[in-house]
Amino acid sequence: MENFNHITIDPMELAGKRVLVTGGTKGGMGEAIVKRLTKAGATVITTARTTPEELKETELFIQADISTPEGTAKIVEYILERFGGVDILVNNVGGSSTPTGGVLKQTDEDWQRTFDTNLFAAVRLDRGLLPPMLKQSYGVILHITSIQRRFPGENTMAYSAAKAALGNYSKALATELAPKGIRVNSIAPGFTETKAAERLIERMANERGCGYNDARQSLMDSLGGIPIGRTARPEEVAELAAFLVSNRASYIVGAEHTIDGGIVRTI
Ligand SMILES: NC(=O)c1ccc[n+]([C@@H]2O[C@H](COP(=O)([O-])OP(=O)(O)OC[C@H]3O[C@@H](n4cnc5c(N)ncnc54)[C@H](OP(=O)(O)O)[C@@H]3O)[C@@H](O)[C@H]2O)c1
Repeated sequence: MENFNHITIDPMELAGKRVLVTGGTKGGMGEAIVKRLTKAGATVITTARTTPEELKETELFIQADISTPEGTAKIVEYILERFGGVDILVNNVGGSSTPTGGVLKQTDEDWQRTFDTNLFAAVRLDRGLLPPMLKQSYGVILHITSIQRRFPGENTMAYSAAKAALGNYSKALATELAPKGIRVNSIAPGFTETKAAERLIERMANERGCGYNDARQSLMDSLGGIPIGRTARPEEVAELAAFLVSNRASYIVGAEHTIDGGIVRTI
């Protein structure tokens, strides 16, 4: 047993499990989930658009842009050929890159890109990797949505709408696949201070002509503050993911798990 962030990890819990986590390279939730599931004994494959130096030689990394059908097809083909499929699929990639400044600033291209990245990437990967899961009557799929799914951000309306669609799709998929031995669930994080979140804040600061701290504060204010008093660490989200993909969560199906330090006040 190893102690990780004050949590005892069973290094054999996911032994023999083949896992795909999308977007596991840039110090955010994706990378934290890759590390956490690897420590639990799984073989974890990850993807990104850019190949980090340390992952150049490994068969556990696939370079692909998952916002395109070609990118997801490349990932599916590679996994089916080399690994015969995966047992656990964590659809982590997502995010917003649309301009701030209101609805009139959002072009068709902004909306399409946001839905391609946050919804269609998961739909295509799930569909491509489901056949071997169905054949073995076993699989676990996780979708990373956002609290913005039901608490739309003022500057991220396309992203919020795409995450709402992802949550809705995730629920339908869970209902269809549960009788076939496949569990589907989702995680809705709150404000998690990853590099991707820092880039969003920097963009907001540039567009508004204010400093980073002011933009960060205005983001916190738009959330109505965080009752627990701080933003989340990616490892905290990874811990929830590790639980949900394990057999400890064997009866959890079609549920969205909010992890937000209390930001969403409604029940
Ligand atoms: N951070 C937050 O506060 C927050 C809150 C709620 C929900 N979420 C959701 O949580 C998930 C993880 O967010 P995160 O902030 O922790 O980021 P993250 O996991 O660090 O994501 C960045 C990773 O995704 C890859 N990536 C980005 N776009 C890609 C694309 N089109 N194709 C392939 N790979 C791509 C990046 O590599 P490359 O750039 O090299 O491609 C990098 O590996 C996302 O779904 C996000 O929407 C985040």
